[in-house]
Amino acid sequence: MKHVAVIGAGTMGNGIAQVYAMHGTSVVMVDVATGALGKGMEAVRGSLARMVKKGTIDPGAADAALSRIATTTDMSALGDPDLVVEAASEQPALKFSIFEKLDATCPPATILATNTSSISITEIAARTRRPDRVIGMHFMNPVPLMQLVEVIRGQATSTATTGAVMESARALGKTPVEVNDYPGFVSNRVLMPMINEAIFCVMEGVATPEAVDTVMKLGMAHPMGPLMLADLIGLDTCLAILEVLHRGLGDDKYRPCPLLRRMVAAGQLGRKTGQGFYKY
Ligand code: CAA
Repeated sequence: MKHVAVIGAGTMGNGIAQVYAMHGTSVVMVDVATGALGKGMEAVRGSLARMVKKGTIDPGAADAALSRIATTTDMSALGDPDLVVEAASEQPALKFSIFEKLDATCPPATILATNTSSISITEIAARTRRPDRVIGMHFMNPVPLMQLVEVIRGQATSTATTGAVMESARALGKTPVEVNDYPGFVSNRVLMPMINEAIFCVMEGVATPEAVDTVMKLGMAHPMGPLMLADLIGLDTCLAILEVLHRGLGDDKYRPCPLLRRMVAAGQLGRKTGQGFYKY
């Protein structure tokens, strides 16, 4: 992929823009507000600086990566990308309208990927006239560090599109894993019930958040406990994904914990609001 457009300058969008730019691709990052683009570029600068400090990349490579990222608020000024990765907010109506616009403005050969963590790829693809070239490309947070890209085939995604996206993920030094389009795919279908159960443990007084996380960190060698991870992902995002699993699979084992609902209602969304299961 020589030229890639990333829709959304938030945590996932700026991380995706960064990894493509670090691997020699020219990137245009799009958001609705210039403030969001500024914050996104600040995050990329911060992440590259950490990597330089750590010795993972040299300062010249960090500068070159930064120079490959352009920003715009104009969705029709993408410069004929080979691939678009959409990483806007996790709201179906928003994603549908973005894909309708992308389909109308991008060349027919452009592959349209979504970084959605749970919305149906098949439903997004159905909003376009190129469902064979629509696919899920689910990066993990923090994008520059995490090895996995979950590649999700919708009902109509072609083998050629899947192959091109798997190859593109490999070119970023990531490991792509192909899965099919069912609610939560694999990553969140397995991860979210664990996080939800950890929240039930806190609600029922089985243990404190610190105790639950320590059990999973030291007992199961997880790099961070499920509640700290929930705070990193965002409690609103966790709730939205659990709702998709509950509705989409029709099984009460996915019912969101009432404590999770209460914290989201109170605006305690985790790291991004400074308060979740922990204070930041
Ligand atoms: N860019 C560059 N470097 C970064 C970074 C970033 N964004 N974030 C952290 N680092 C570096 C730090 O500089 C640090 O470097 P040193 O070792 O030289 O100090 C190193 O990474 C480790 O960071 P920390 O010391 O801050 O913390 P840590 O050791 O706990 O590692 C972590 C952080 C890599 C995030 C690790 O805790 C981890 O792997 N956690 C689990 C993350 C996870 O499960 N992600 C998936 C979430 S689910 C998802 O994304 C999908 C979904 O749909 C919900």
